[in-house]
Amino acid sequence: MKLRLDKYLADMGAGTRSEVKRAVGKGLVLVNGQVVKKPEVKIDTESDCVICQGQEIGYTEYEYYMLNKPAGVISATEDSREKTVIDLIESRKRKDLFPVGRLDKDTEGLLLITNDGALAHRLLSPKKHVDKVYYAKVQGVVTQEDVQAFAKGVDIGEERLTRPGNLEILASNAISEIRLTIHEGKFHQVKRMFEAVGKQVIYLKRLSMGTLKLDEELGPGEYRPLTEKEVEQLC
Ligand code: URA
Repeated sequence: MKLRLDKYLADMGAGTRSEVKRAVGKGLVLVNGQVVKKPEVKIDTESDCVICQGQEIGYTEYEYYMLNKPAGVISATEDSREKTVIDLIESRKRKDLFPVGRLDKDTEGLLLITNDGALAHRLLSPKKHVDKVYYAKVQGVVTQEDVQAFAKGVDIGEERLTRPGNLEILASNAISEIRLTIHEGKFHQVKRMFEAVGKQVIYLKRLSMGTLKLDEELGPGEYRPLTEKEVEQLC
């Protein structure tokens, strides 16, 4: 792929477009060993070697990370007060990463972080009904009636009932443990589905989204790049 030197550098987080233009103008950028002072010069991302202020800057078109989101961090790209899921991806190269969908601040688990907008659109499109699997601890005894209600769809105060969800009871006690598979992603959906049957979610963790499963080796706050196979399966 070929692109302008200033875009190349800005995409890779070397500065804003105007900052990198200034750096280029000052002769601080080398392309294949030669100082290049024109920001519009086209760079071949496969073969050219770009050095900005002494540091080699490789180009990555797309990045894909699996994050085990910890509680207490928000699913946003930036925030003046709160820590975001993007802040956790310390090895990121691109500056345009975003989380694919949102988990509540107190929810843990699988979050895909990428800059691949087309993939995000496919995963989030309501028409695609991508499976999302959650593990939850729920205050109160979850019953077979709840299983049946979720299988029909429940009223969470929207125009229509939710799509059917597959509720599996793992432990049914004063605090129950469940696994729930849903095929849509409305705001606070899991919590609202349990509220609809008079119960409260007290812990929530996403285990999978489509073909992508949370790597059990990742502790809360840890992340890793997706493997090629994981990206292929998602795409
Ligand atoms: N459903 C919720 O209620 N919260 C989440 O974070 C994700 C799904």
